[in-house]
Amino acid sequence: MTESPLVLGIESSCDETAAAVVAGDRRILSNVVLSQLDDHRAYGGVVPEIAARAHVSHLDRLIAQALREAGVTLAEIDAVAATAGPGLIGGVIVGLTMGKALALGAGKPFVGVNHLEGHALTPRLVSGLEFPYLLLLVSGGHCQLLAVEGVGRYRRLGTTIDDAVGEAFDKTAKLLGLGYPGGPAVEAAAATGDPARFTLPRPMFGRPGCDFSFSGLKTAVRETAASLPQPLSAQDRADLAASFQATVGAVMVDRTRRAIALMPKGTPLVVAGGVAANKHLRARLEALAAETGIAFVAPPIRLCTDNGAMIAWAGLEHFRQGETDPLDLKPRARWPLDAAAAMPGAKA
Ligand code: KG4
Ligand code: ZN
Repeated sequence: MTESPLVLGIESSCDETAAAVVAGDRRILSNVVLSQLDDHRAYGGVVPEIAARAHVSHLDRLIAQALREAGVTLAEIDAVAATAGPGLIGGVIVGLTMGKALALGAGKPFVGVNHLEGHALTPRLVSGLEFPYLLLLVSGGHCQLLAVEGVGRYRRLGTTIDDAVGEAFDKTAKLLGLGYPGGPAVEAAAATGDPARFTLPRPMFGRPGCDFSFSGLKTAVRETAASLPQPLSAQDRADLAASFQATVGAVMVDRTRRAIALMPKGTPLVVAGGVAANKHLRARLEALAAETGIAFVAPPIRLCTDNGAMIAWAGLEHFRQGETDPLDLKPRARWPLDAAAAMPGAKA
């Protein structure tokens, strides 16, 4: 194997169609992301069938673009990696099948990547961070605290018992009529709002363990909104968005503080996943890390939200260890990173 393998990564598990080429020395040679926002806007959320069809329409062109921008041909790639789950199954099937077909056609090894592992290993792509680290993984489908001990070695310290945090942002945005996608819309509205105007419940705050809960908070936002004069004024929306965001921040800091105490002293804190794009939450976590005397790593925003580089990198980490997958690898709608911690019926 070459010193610095080149890996093509394909991502299609949600509403981003993405392809990238990454090198073993941590260079991102290309990272092409097509967001399907406009396709889903009218529905106020991601429609799985529309997402899958859009992946079919765009993926081949995006892969060609990623190779072109990287200045390499498929023949020069050392391995092909594609997301094999968890995610919307139709989309996962599209990218996974494309990845396998390219690997087969070009005679290259194939690696099926866990999308969450893509987020989890991104800090190593960005800064060469060494294991172990504490990871707060916050996205549209997840809210977990994980001890990342090595490639493929993840120990879950806590997870949400109901909604994911990104889901809470998205639902809050919908409820307040802030538009889509929800996370950035809530953050933008909150920027001009008063976070102290409304006191919202802080689910799980101060409780033992590191689990999260967001459904009660969502309900409280709905009830508070309903108690105000209708239609809501722009200021009401901004204040409620700011109060919601501050409450999420308080809960996140409380839960993460507990997880820090469970890790060996000095273990760095990493935040990853789409919600890690939120500047308020990043700042609060950074302050927590400073207070507890540990390093804080947050990937740049374009590498926090779904992209192909994170899949290429996770594939590369496995490939470098001699781990590849057979071409009959199955797509998985659910695929927990820490299989031991996954309860039956729990969100992956
Ligand atoms: O990781 P990601 O791109 O896709 C999943 O794997 O889920 O995360 C998407 C989630 C969405 O719920 C979106 O609203 C949220 O990340 N998000 C944000 C922000 N940007 C994206 N949430 C809060 N603030 C943001 N700035
Ligand atoms: Zn994601």
